[in-house]
Amino acid sequence: MFWNRQKKNELGKKSNGLYQHGNEELIHLRQVVKTFDSAAGKFTALRGVDLRVDAGEFVAVIGKSGSGKTTLVNMVAGIDRPTAGEVLVGNTAVHKLNEGQMAEWRGRNLGIVFQFFQLLPTLTLAENIMLPMDFCNVYKSGERRKRALNLLEQMEMADHANKLPAAISGGQQQRVAIARALANDPPILLADEPTGNLDSKTADSVFELFEGLVKRGKTILMVTHDHDLAKRATRAVQIADGEIIEQQLAQAFPVLTQAQLVALTHKVDPEKYAPGQIILRQGEPVEQFNVIVNGRVEIVVPQPDGAEKIVATMSRGEYFGEIELLRGGASLATARAASDAPVEVLRFDRATFNEMVSQNSALKDAIARIAQARTAENVAARNGEARHA
Ligand SMILES: Nc1ncnc2c1ncn2[C@@H]1O[C@H](COP(=O)(O)OP(=O)(O)OP(=O)(O)O)[C@@H](O)[C@H]1O
Ligand SMILES: [Mg+2]
Repeated sequence: MFWNRQKKNELGKKSNGLYQHGNEELIHLRQVVKTFDSAAGKFTALRGVDLRVDAGEFVAVIGKSGSGKTTLVNMVAGIDRPTAGEVLVGNTAVHKLNEGQMAEWRGRNLGIVFQFFQLLPTLTLAENIMLPMDFCNVYKSGERRKRALNLLEQMEMADHANKLPAAISGGQQQRVAIARALANDPPILLADEPTGNLDSKTADSVFELFEGLVKRGKTILMVTHDHDLAKRATRAVQIADGEIIEQQLAQAFPVLTQAQLVALTHKVDPEKYAPGQIILRQGEPVEQFNVIVNGRVEIVVPQPDGAEKIVATMSRGEYFGEIELLRGGASLATARAASDAPVEVLRFDRATFNEMVSQNSALKDAIARIAQARTAENVAARNGEARHA
C-alpha cells in the first residue's frame, strides 16, 4: 500500500481523525511549474509552487479566475503533469507514474469532486457509486451494492438509490458525487468548486458534509470562490498568478504587496506545538517571528512571588516575537500553546523579518507600535501591577 491507510469502512465508526499535532505530511508539491503550450503560445499557469498538506487537514484554495487553482488540483490528482518540480502524495511520486499506474493509484487513493457533478446519466445513483469500486477491486463484488447504499445513507440520499441523476436536484447530485468519491474509501478528497453551482443554502449543507469527512479523518483540498466557506477550513492558501500566498500572512500583513507576500510565503516554516508546549521561553534569546495559524497562544510573565500571570492570549492572525527581534535581547515573556488545543504557527527567521519590515515602512511602524505597547504591558505585569491585556 502507498501509506498507512485507515481501515476499510471507517466512515461508519467513530474515529478521532482530527488534525493533530504530529500528523504526517500527506501532500507535498515541490517547486511545481506548469507551462501550457498551445496555439496561442506558451503560458505558465504555476510558477514554482510549494505546498505541504498534512494528514487530516482541510485546506481551501482560493484565488481569482485563471490564477491556477484547477491546474494545481490537477497536479495532485495526476490528471495533468508538471513541467518541472515534484508532486509527492504519501510515498508516491505522482509525476513519475505511467498512465496505468496513475489510474490505479488515483482510484484507490483519491476521491475527486467536480463543480458539475459528472454523474453518468444512464446509471442509477447506486450504480454510479459502484462504478469506481468495480474499477478498483478494493471491495469484493458481493459487498459493493451494500457499500454504495451505506454511502448514500451517510449522504442522506438512501431513498433515491435507484433513481437516475436527472431525477434529483443539483444539491442532491453533488451529495451522490461525494458518495462516489468515497467509494474506495480514499484518504484524500480533492474538490474543485464543489459548491460553485449550488445556491448558498445547499452549498452550506454540502460544505458541512466535507467538514464531517475531515472529522472522520479524511484530508481535503478544496478549491472555492467562497471566502466565507474558506475561512471554515483549517487553512486557506491563495493562488495569485500561479504562485502561492499563505492566507494567514495576507491577513496578518495586509499592507504587503502580492509580490512581497509570495516571497514571504516561500520563506516561512510551518511549526506545530502540542497543547501547553512552550514556544518561546522567558529569558532565552529569540531568533524567530511567529504568526499564529491555529489555536491560542498564552503570553506568560513571572510574578515577584514566583507565580505566573497570563498577560495576553493571542489567536489566528496575531503574531509574536517582534519585540526581541526589533530590540535584541532575551524574551521578555514566555509564549506557550494554550492547554486546550494544539497551536500551529508560521515561523520565520530574523533575516526574513528584517527584510520584510525594511521593505515597508508602514508595516515597520505598525509592528514597532505593537512592540512598544506589549513591552509596557509585560513590564507592568512583571512588577505585579494590576493591568490586563
Ligand atoms: N490546457 C490548457 N492550455 C492552455 N492554457 C491553459 C490550459 N489549462 C489552463 N490554462 C490556463 O492556465 C491558467 C490557469 O487556469 P486554471 O484553470 O488553473 O485557473 P483557475 O484558477 O482554476 O480559474 P477558474 O476560477 O476560472 O476555474 C489560465 O490562464 C488558463 O487559461
Ligand atoms: Mg478552475
